[in-house]
Amino acid sequence: MSVHIAAKKGEIAGAVLLPGDPLRAQFIAENFLEDPVQYTSIRNMSGFTGTYQGKRVSVQGTGMGIPSISIYVNELFRDYDVKRAIRIGTAGSIQEGLELRELVIAMSACTDSGANAIRFGGRHFAPTASFNLVKKAYEAAEKRGWKPRVGSVVSSDMFYTEDPDEWKLWAKFGCLALEMESAELYTLAAKYRREALALLTISDSLITHGVTSAEERQTTFTRMMEVALETAVS
Ligand code: HPA
Repeated sequence: MSVHIAAKKGEIAGAVLLPGDPLRAQFIAENFLEDPVQYTSIRNMSGFTGTYQGKRVSVQGTGMGIPSISIYVNELFRDYDVKRAIRIGTAGSIQEGLELRELVIAMSACTDSGANAIRFGGRHFAPTASFNLVKKAYEAAEKRGWKPRVGSVVSSDMFYTEDPDEWKLWAKFGCLALEMESAELYTLAAKYRREALALLTISDSLITHGVTSAEERQTTFTRMMEVALETAVS
């Protein structure tokens, strides 16, 4: 039993979806999985296991930011033998032409995080998604007539940066969008030799300052969930 999840071995499936918001984990369990059972509620960071198309899938809230997702993903890989972890989240667009509601498949994740600075002692690891999962997710999205954007994202430690133009440096080097967790997920997957992927829908734009409405987020979210679940069980 791990400290922050405290489920029994076997209660968590080999494939886990990772939303940041624990209420979203509950929503997914109740609306997309069959026979969901809650295995943790410590700190209200809910986790559930159910089935999708007859295959076991879990969904675990991670909280926001690298220190929080790091705790949950460390325990999932180390203590529960999770083989495949798929983050489902939102991101802010930093490229013109990457519009609200589009789907981004994060092939790699740059980061300004203290986590990898500490872990690698100033060396620069390249957090990278599982090619197998990138391919599966791309095909699952395309099949539904959705053209995902594939590329690098930025996992930042700071939502409220001191310099409001900081993102422009990353944009100059082709990064697609800002979020706050994927680099840690990919780094831990590399350490434990597991498969990881982040699927992100664009919720806001640092260029146009547009934001999606709650209703738009829901529709987009449902499409992303279908892609995530198919990727998780295939
Ligand atoms: N910045 C960081 N994380 C985010 C954003 C953003 O603009 N949008 C969604 N997650």
